[in-house]
Amino acid sequence: MPSPEPFLYNQHFRPSTSVAKGSTTEVREFHCSLPGYARTPLVSLPDAAEAAGVGAVLVKDESSRLGLPAFKMLGASWAVHRALAARDEKAAPPRLVTATDGNHGRAVARMASWLGLQATILVPRGVSEAAIQFIRDEGATVEVLDASYDDTVNEAARVANADPDALLIQDTSWVGYEDVPQWIVDGYATLFDEAAEQAAESGLSIDVLIVPAGVGSLAHAAVAFSRTQPDCRVISVEPTVAACISASLQRGELTTVTTGETSMAGLNCGTPAYLAWPDLRTGLSAATTVDEAQATAALEELSSFGVDSGPCGAASLAALHLIAEEPARTDLRLTPTTTVLLLNTEGFSSAR
Ligand SMILES: Cc1ncc(COP(=O)(O)O)c(C=O)c1O
Repeated sequence: MPSPEPFLYNQHFRPSTSVAKGSTTEVREFHCSLPGYARTPLVSLPDAAEAAGVGAVLVKDESSRLGLPAFKMLGASWAVHRALAARDEKAAPPRLVTATDGNHGRAVARMASWLGLQATILVPRGVSEAAIQFIRDEGATVEVLDASYDDTVNEAARVANADPDALLIQDTSWVGYEDVPQWIVDGYATLFDEAAEQAAESGLSIDVLIVPAGVGSLAHAAVAFSRTQPDCRVISVEPTVAACISASLQRGELTTVTTGETSMAGLNCGTPAYLAWPDLRTGLSAATTVDEAQATAALEELSSFGVDSGPCGAASLAALHLIAEEPARTDLRLTPTTTVLLLNTEGFSSAR
């Protein structure tokens, strides 16, 4: 497969004609009830705004969320909560199973330890020893496979299917496996809810949202949020070596790509989530891809602004630099008065 274009304007994008009503109260209340809940910071980067020629650049900093260095706990906690509520009360306590490239598995393992449940976490090749150890430290059993992320997800589904007491908590979806991943997407809503609230406290509303994408579940939540705003654009960013959303938008249909190696481990996914795809197809304005050097430079830049960022989180700033140079920037609502929200989805410590 040829290298993806760094920038792809999405021909299938359809701006919403009306503002959808979104209710995130139940999810937000649930998160507020968890130990250590606090809104994550929304940091303004005036220098980055000036460089990009926009009114404001805000970073939603998920480097510390519910005691973990990534946003993932928002989805894992809500999905586990909903999945347990849907189980027969008389059934044995389940064993939580998932595949992960780091952050999601650690969040599922943390939920299991909070609830006194067993967890089995499957990890593909390319995940750092430190990230694996973090999951073990939560008390989970970790199995490291010499396989890609997509194959590891398949194996986790097989392991869970073979055990009547297992509960698969996977952050991607396929035909017939839809409830849990939808709850995960619903759980991510708290992040956008907080960001909109914090922006409003500064008299701002979010016009453009740049979201790091692996399977696209977070981007799916971003698109859902954008439809509750008057005229908000969502742009995805993926590593050049794992640009399945970009490839899917290019072809107009859900497409699997062969993945490579990248420091952006959380984004190293070959297949978009089945549930996310229809909304990504019409809800993303553009897709971007960044390489290692761009992600590293953005990470250093964020660090110089005092933001603790891992490569996945920094990808959103790298994408802003890229889009700022695009002739299509006005179509993407990058104007001197617009507010851009970047998602710093992980801190550096989760990516070591
Ligand atoms: C740090 C980080 N950012 C972004 C993502 C992308 O989320 P999604 O796979 O839902 O697109 C992930 C996924 O694991 C991640 O760990």
